[in-house]
Amino acid sequence: MIDIHCHILPGLDDGAEDLDTSLEMAALAAESGTRILVATPHCNIPNEYMNYLDEHITQTFLGLQQAIQQEGIPLQLAMGMEAFGTDDLPLLLRMGKVATLNNTHYLLVEFYFGDDPDRVQMVLEGLLEEGVIPVVAHPERYEYVRRDPELAVDWKSMGCLLQVNKGSVVGSFGRDVQDTVHYLIQQGLADAVASDAHSPYQRTPFMEEAYEMVCDLYSVQEAQRLFWDNPACILRDEPALPGRQRRRDWR
Ligand SMILES: [Fe+2]
Repeated sequence: MIDIHCHILPGLDDGAEDLDTSLEMAALAAESGTRILVATPHCNIPNEYMNYLDEHITQTFLGLQQAIQQEGIPLQLAMGMEAFGTDDLPLLLRMGKVATLNNTHYLLVEFYFGDDPDRVQMVLEGLLEEGVIPVVAHPERYEYVRRDPELAVDWKSMGCLLQVNKGSVVGSFGRDVQDTVHYLIQQGLADAVASDAHSPYQRTPFMEEAYEMVCDLYSVQEAQRLFWDNPACILRDEPALPGRQRRRDWR
């Protein structure tokens, strides 16, 4: 599997607090079958985690990459960020303050859970105009998407991709979120499943359970597309493979 969303870098955000914790997360990811993992610290969250790309972040990334190798953990680490969608995000990208996923045109972008959907749409448009392809992080967790999943259809038709969380798939965020994520998969709207892991204990990078569930409920091919093929397309800067609509309700 390829995990494109993980708070594995030590000491930068609410993810791993130190290098040992990062290594525990890396080992857990590798154990569950993840081969490539993108480090995506929170970035540009107003009054919280700013984390603009600088020497410290680069050195933290390189340090962890080296430690993973030294420990003999079979996991390749790539660089990215989970950027919060502010109106000036396109400008920050132009200034080189924000890292896209593996230095491609794809940017992992998040919004407030109770954000204004019109504002979200405006930010996404601004990014697309800048030549960036937004990969919307965990849309199933946003109140406005749960209320009106058609928003996800709009974002997809604009050219955005949707990354859903493995925790949502298995029900860790409650029934509403789980219903929404399976609606997105069923409608062929979800493009990738990622861990959005924050620790080796809770919200972990262990992907196996969600992978098995997608295999059982949908198909091995769909699991392959969501956990491997599309994340690989993203990291190679290639177009993602489209999903297919299914008729049956997931429950
Ligand atoms: Fe995240």
